[in-house]
Amino acid sequence: MPSDNCLEGLISQIVADPALHARWLNTFSYLEYVGFRKIVKSQRAEVLTAAILGHACEEGRHALGLKKLAVKLGGAGFDSYAPQVLLCGEEAEAYFQDLDQSCDEAFADRSADERVRLAYGYVTWLVERRALDVYGLYKDALGDSEIARKLGGLLAEETKHLSDIEALLQSADPAFSTRSKEFEAVENSLYVVFLAALTKALAQESPVKVAVAS
Ligand SMILES: [Fe+2]
Ligand SMILES: [Fe+2]
Repeated sequence: MPSDNCLEGLISQIVADPALHARWLNTFSYLEYVGFRKIVKSQRAEVLTAAILGHACEEGRHALGLKKLAVKLGGAGFDSYAPQVLLCGEEAEAYFQDLDQSCDEAFADRSADERVRLAYGYVTWLVERRALDVYGLYKDALGDSEIARKLGGLLAEETKHLSDIEALLQSADPAFSTRSKEFEAVENSLYVVFLAALTKALAQESPVKVAVAS
């Protein structure tokens, strides 16, 4: 993906600073929680399958696992999703919500259940692809550690989610090959916006640290 080099540099800065690192972990926990909440809120019980319920539970478990690591690294102050214990939390949520909205609007002409099913499928497909990329780079930056091992488990489950949802979309949407590319472009532009906000936030962190240290 195009912005990997940029992200690798940002990750090195983050993992070198325990306070930033705890905020970064907590932000992923928050995004996993938002994913969990979105699935639960969007799916009517009448059409809720075991596969979707299982996916929601796993995202909830990812949120909890990452939260525990954030608290272990940063202390009890990280036991919430307050803005000061997140890293660009608002921008991260905007990425997710805007993506969800774009996918939902693309199926405005479908029946309510089909619209929900396809929007869920595409948002999941896009977010899982991005998660695999970002978690993979993050894990590579950590070497052998408790956090890296937890990320290894997450990556295995996200890989399974991605292959499940891709199989579902390929059978549910005859236009998958063209539509997926259009949505990929939308997702990429939202991710670039998030990355710019993260770059700016981290540039502002350095002078503060220097001032504190001197
Ligand atoms: Fe997840
Ligand atoms: Fe997932």
